Amino acid sequence: MKILVIHGPNLNLLGTRESDIYGTKTLEEINASLQQLAAELGAELAIEQSNHEGEIVDLIQSGKSYDALIINPAAYTHTSVAIRDAIAAVEIPAVELHLSNIYKREEFRHKSLISPVAHGQISGFGPESYLLGLRAAVSIANAKNRAS
Ligand code: DQA
Repeated sequence: MKILVIHGPNLNLLGTRESDIYGTKTLEEINASLQQLAAELGAELAIEQSNHEGEIVDLIQSGKSYDALIINPAAYTHTSVAIRDAIAAVEIPAVELHLSNIYKREEFRHKSLISPVAHGQISGFGPESYLLGLRAAVSIANAKNRAS
């Protein structure tokens, strides 16, 4: 099983960026724990980070052969019709996730343009959101593969 993980803008700065909100783990550390869990669950991960909306659209389009997508669209969650449409177009199950609980924060973060095209959303568990997201993606992909 192959799963594509996409980290959106500014997530390359994790560890030093607003650590009161996002914690002190770096993206490299999060990726390492994802790879470790993926090995335990028998999944193969491709992990990408981009600060650019169009590049994220390209990554999603190139992900057609994956069994599931895990995406933290970061600020684009609240603004990007293009990323939403790309997820809808590729028809692979997507797990949207956030480190912080976006509903507990500023009002402009309460709206996700991605949620209506995602299988589900995980929000508010810090770096653990990624591990929960991976477990969810593996279980959705297994169910889909069993059905086909
Ligand atoms: C975020 C929440 C977004 O509102 C914010 O713009 C981010 C990170 C999160 O993981 O909590 O950059 O997606």
